[in-house]
Amino acid sequence: MARSGKGSIEKYFQKDAPKSVREEIQNAKKGEILNPTYPYSEKMKTKDYDEQMDLLQIELVKMQSWVKETDQRVAIIFEGRDAAGKGGTIKRFRENLNPRGARNVALAKPSDAERSQWYFQRYIPHLPAAGEIVFFDRSWYNRGVVENVFGFCTQEQRERFFRQVLPLETGLVNDGIHLFKFWLNVGRAEQLNRFLARENDPLKHWKLSAIDVAGLNKWDEYTQSISETLTRSHSDACPWTIVRSDDKKRARLAAIRTVLHALDYDEKDKNSIGEIDTRICGGPDMWE
Ligand code: ADP
Ligand code: AMP
Ligand code: MLT
Repeated sequence: MARSGKGSIEKYFQKDAPKSVREEIQNAKKGEILNPTYPYSEKMKTKDYDEQMDLLQIELVKMQSWVKETDQRVAIIFEGRDAAGKGGTIKRFRENLNPRGARNVALAKPSDAERSQWYFQRYIPHLPAAGEIVFFDRSWYNRGVVENVFGFCTQEQRERFFRQVLPLETGLVNDGIHLFKFWLNVGRAEQLNRFLARENDPLKHWKLSAIDVAGLNKWDEYTQSISETLTRSHSDACPWTIVRSDDKKRARLAAIRTVLHALDYDEKDKNSIGEIDTRICGGPDMWE
C-alpha cells in the first residue's frame, strides 16, 4: 500500500521501524489482524459486533439504574500502550449511559503543585461517590509505565508507588467500591498502523502526542515496565484483566462483558451478556 505524508510517524515507518513490523503492515489485507499471535486472523464482522453490542448496551443501562438506585460506586481503570484503544472502549461503555452518573477522568501530566503532593493525591477527588461510574482513561499506573520509560519519576518514587498501590486499592475495595483494572494489549504493528492513521486523519491528530512519537523507539522499555507493573500490582482483591485489543470490536465486547458479569444488578440477563472470549481476555498470564 502506497503511503503519502511526511509526518514523524510516517518517517519512523519508512526509516526506523523494524523490518518485520513494516512488512506486516505493508502486506496486510483489508480486515486482517496485524498480529500473528492473535487467536483470530480476521477482524470481527460489523454485523456480529452490532448484534452483540446492542444487547450489551441494554444491560449497561440496567446496570447504571442499579448503581444509581442502590448507591453503588464503580471505578473502571483503562490502561495500555498508546493507541491500545482506551478512549474508544470507554466511549462504547458510555454510549447510552446517563452522563449524570458516568464520568471520564483523563488527567493531564501533573502540575508543579501536583508533583509536590503525595503521588495518588490528585486522583483521589475523582473517585466515585454513591450512584457514580467513573472511567479512568489512564490512571495512577502512569508511574509504573510511562513515567518509568521516560524518566519522569525516580526509582525511589516508583518503588514507593509499588509499595502503596495495592494497599490503597484494597482499601477502596474494602470500602465497597467496585474496582476494575483493564490492561488493553496491542501488538507493535497494529499500534504503528493506528499511529499512521492518526497522523493522516485531521480528526485524530489530537490523539497523537510527542510521547507517542518518542515512544516509537521504546517498545522494549515499555514491555519491561508493563510486565513488572502487571506482576507487582495484581492481587485477588484488585486483579488486572488483560484484553488483547488488536481487534477493537472483540476487545470492547470483552471489557463490557467483564464488568456486567461481575456486578449483581437487577434484571441481569446472563444470556444477553454472553460469554467472555477467554482467548483474548483473562489474567496477567495472557499478557505477552
Ligand atoms: P495520551 O496517550 O494519554 O494521549 P501522552 O501519550 O502524551 O497522552 O502521555 C501519556 C501519559 O504520560 C499521560 O497520562 C501524561 O499525562 C503522562 N505524562 C506526559 N508527560 C509527563 C511528565 N512530564 N510527567 C509525568 N507524566 C507525564
Ligand atoms: P511535527 O512538527 O509534525 O513533527 O509534529 C509535532 C507534534 O505534533 C508531534 O509530537 C506529533 O505527534 C504531533 N502531530 C499531530 N498531528 C501530526 C501530523 N499530522 N503530522 C505530524 N505530527 C503530528
Ligand atoms: C489510546 O489507547 O491511546 C486511545 O485512548 C484509544 C483510542 O481511542 O484509540
